[in-house]
Amino acid sequence: MSGHPGPELAIETAGLVKVFGDNRAVDGVDLSVPAGTVYGVLGPNGAGKTTAVKMLATLLRPDGGAAHVFGKDVVREADAVRGRVSLTGQYASVDEDLTGTENLVLLGRLLGHSKAAARTRSAQLLEAFGLAEAAERQIKNYSGGMRRRIDIAASILNTPDLLFLDEPTTGLDPRSRNQVWDIVRAVVAQGTTVLLTTQYLDEADHLASRIAVIDHGKVIAEGTKGELKASVGSGSVHLRLRDPAQRPEAERVLRGALNVAVQLDQDPVALTATVNGHASDLGAAEQAARALSALAASGITVDNFALGQPSLDEVFLALTDRNARSAPGDGAPHNASTTGVPA
Ligand SMILES: Nc1ncnc2c1ncn2[C@@H]1O[C@H](COP(=O)(O)OP(=O)(O)O)[C@@H](O)[C@H]1O
Ligand SMILES: [Mg+2]
Repeated sequence: MSGHPGPELAIETAGLVKVFGDNRAVDGVDLSVPAGTVYGVLGPNGAGKTTAVKMLATLLRPDGGAAHVFGKDVVREADAVRGRVSLTGQYASVDEDLTGTENLVLLGRLLGHSKAAARTRSAQLLEAFGLAEAAERQIKNYSGGMRRRIDIAASILNTPDLLFLDEPTTGLDPRSRNQVWDIVRAVVAQGTTVLLTTQYLDEADHLASRIAVIDHGKVIAEGTKGELKASVGSGSVHLRLRDPAQRPEAERVLRGALNVAVQLDQDPVALTATVNGHASDLGAAEQAARALSALAASGITVDNFALGQPSLDEVFLALTDRNARSAPGDGAPHNASTTGVPA
């Protein structure tokens, strides 16, 4: 919308709603996405991410609220919006039977490029996305990671002002995922705003400057990734013991060493401790090292150890625990396998 001072907004929604039958897939979403950044929308399967993206990309009509893209209304000024956005995700734009080059040249021609310009751009993109060697292969013979990369290449034949990437790395191996991340960074460096949906906290953390966490069609947290981490903890220490009989003792030692809640996982030899972001004079790695040496000093044998970011489940647990003020503060924490987010 107009008249605001401050940074230009690529996306602004107010009370955005989409209803399927009696399912409020998107249930009153307010978003402000500054231009020139990667904005992460983090949520589990069925949260409403794709539905929201489709409304913003003018592919679905909202049932309530408003959405503007670069100040243009996605319903009343849909053509103007379409001229500035591009979408990649679960929507196949490439033809399986054509080669990488054939696809990109064809799409370039459809976008109005001359044959020569389409060829040049195609070659550039295939090279930049590490697909030069696969350029003359049919897409149906591409790996999952190559397929995701050619999808993104196809969506930036014309450099869009706003690119929607709907779960671009779901199901990819770590190496392919890193390649996609590099591409996202390169796209943003050229001035494109990216709205990225993901189920992975670490992906949002690596790429996005701001993150909205959504579930059941609602935004349950929003902020810079620093703010989000400060509220949910910056990491998790996952431990597997040799002897399940040592677990109660390990739990006590961990609590003492880290001064945080420790979760007993389903697996009788496993424990998880969330490292607090705000309590860290010590970084997560140092806190973990301290925990390990305390365990060793107590004669507890640790078979396996991992330091990771909190899982999406843990993020939701932390966010919803914080919201539900009546929740038992220090009671035995349960390990949520599903997110018990109140509607
Ligand atoms: N075309 C549709 N018709 C009916 N229900 C739908 C349709 N698309 C999505 N939904 C429902 O809306 C909710 C949100 O789905 P979706 O936006 O695809 O979530 P996400 O992308 O976060 O996984 C889900 O409950 C899903 O089953
Ligand atoms: Mg989706």
